[in-house]
Amino acid sequence: MAVTRTFSIIKPDATRRNLTGAVTKLLEEAGLRVVASKRIHMTRDQAGGFYAVHKERPFYNDLCTFMTSGPVVVQVLEGEDAVKRNRDVMGATNPADAAEGTIRKLYAESIEANSVHGSDSDENAAIEIAFFFQPNEIVG
Ligand code: PPS
Repeated sequence: MAVTRTFSIIKPDATRRNLTGAVTKLLEEAGLRVVASKRIHMTRDQAGGFYAVHKERPFYNDLCTFMTSGPVVVQVLEGEDAVKRNRDVMGATNPADAAEGTIRKLYAESIEANSVHGSDSDENAAIEIAFFFQPNEIVG
């Protein structure tokens, strides 16, 4: 299995509850390595650009408002089959559907305040990593 990278966000609901370490521990225990990390407060422009793919969806404005409501931690994660590995440990988008032991089952408050984001494909991972990180900020 190839070692690949994915992009993760620890969302404002999780940073507000001081869960950055707890979430990162679950990522690491799932076999992922944090090769870049920074805590930022996203601007409205950043959130709008990052979620532009969801522009037509009814929750787009609420999602942008939520993602700019407090600090987030953006991370690059590396591991075997990183995109799938990360999505497996994240759990389903809606915590009501998330499997036991997943980050969202343990920590998410709602479908909006669902604690983490993870890229859904290798192609999107590359785009999302480049949105927030310069190559020299990633140390494998
Ligand atoms: S997924 O996992 O990306 O396929 O999920 P998807 O359903 O496509 O959702 C995309 C992102 O939108 C968020 N979302 C919502 N926010 C607010 N309200 C509602 N109803 C809602 N439904 C979905 C969801 O958390 C995803 O955010 P990210 O940051 O991509 O995980």
